[in-house]
Amino acid sequence: MAFKKALSSLIIALPAVLGLVVSPRATCPDGVNTAKNAQCCSLFQVREDLLNNLFENECGDAAHGALRLIFHDAIGIDPQAGGGGADGSIATFNETELTFHANTGIDDVLDTLGPFLQKWSHILTPGDFIQFAGALSLTVCPGAPQVKFLLGRPAPKAASPPNLVPEPFDSVQKILARFASVGFSPEEVVALLSSHSIAGADDVDSSIPGTPFDISPAVFDTQIFINVQLRGTLFPGTSGNQGEVQSPVRGTLRLQSDHLLARDSATNCIWQSFANNQAKMQSEFGAGSSSSRSWVRTLRNDLIPTPPPFTGTASFPPGLSHADVEQACATAAFPNLPTQPGPPLVVPPIPQADGS
Ligand code: HEM
Ligand SMILES: *[C@@H]1O[C@H](CO)[C@@H](O)[C@H](O)[C@H]1NC(C)=O
Repeated sequence: MAFKKALSSLIIALPAVLGLVVSPRATCPDGVNTAKNAQCCSLFQVREDLLNNLFENECGDAAHGALRLIFHDAIGIDPQAGGGGADGSIATFNETELTFHANTGIDDVLDTLGPFLQKWSHILTPGDFIQFAGALSLTVCPGAPQVKFLLGRPAPKAASPPNLVPEPFDSVQKILARFASVGFSPEEVVALLSSHSIAGADDVDSSIPGTPFDISPAVFDTQIFINVQLRGTLFPGTSGNQGEVQSPVRGTLRLQSDHLLARDSATNCIWQSFANNQAKMQSEFGAGSSSSRSWVRTLRNDLIPTPPPFTGTASFPPGLSHADVEQACATAAFPNLPTQPGPPLVVPPIPQADGS
């Protein structure tokens, strides 16, 4: 369905009129890359700039922010309320969209990405830039799925309507209904939340910015699905923050929404199914993207490099084991994983990107 295709742009692209002229592959002016048209040639230099100078080739704060930005731009569409989805409105109309409570912290992301968006605005529309940066952000994160990038979103016309971005204090029912209105199943919602494997919060507990959601925020692994299923025992900073519940490891923060999705009968077995299945997580993360419209042409895959592989093993954090799992799925047991060696962790904060 159309809205779903629009939001699948989370991972690839929005249906948009595409002006690409298809011609035989030619060598770009740089003498190195080849592409089917000049616009594609120009994207290689944008790519190098973003990888080297924005992300600094690390799965750090700037990369995490670029991924979150894709979501907060793309989810701004609704069959009733309207909105342009992945159109870049969150950047162009930031004066409106940044007043939405659920976009707290996006100001820092735009401070970091904005200069690059401006610098390349003669080549990419704001919508295309956000999708391109988000797709590239995954390529610096080991274990991330490889995603495609499609070009051709027109400039945004207006700000997104309010109240379309989920909040960490929303109920499961409300979150699933919001996603369902744009065509996403509960399985697809949980798969998308694997993004929280390379994520943290600056503003949920503002006394401890950069607090990760799992023990390995620079690796796109299944640790988020393990961490969130463990019994919460502590707050990493202060207690009483809206949208936060107790986490099992010092230095990590748990969102109430993740906690409830891991436990609600609508999603708990799905959540658990990713805990020990890197391949399933990778393939389902981009699943909605396969049905893009035929008149949107895929760029060369090598524009988006293959992310480094995940080389670890799904495991419990040091000091924790299957006994610490809060079993929620009624039809299958949580997998029995090895425990990482060593004393209990204190996970360090994610260093903040410049300008935030
Ligand atoms: C149930 C829906 C969701 C809720 C309630 C939610 C909520 C949040 C919250 C509260 C934060 C922390 C913000 C801060 O304080 O700095 C966050 C971070 C993040 N979220 Fe989500 N999120 C959801 C879905 C998604 C999806 C579908 C993606 C996919 C792209 C995503 C990607 C991220 C990333 C990458 C970060 C980390 C940003 C950073 O570390 O700078 N989230 N999310
Ligand atoms: C944010 O909005 C202002 C004012 O409309 C605009 O000048 C600026 O370019 C926007 N920032 C980005 C990153 O698009």
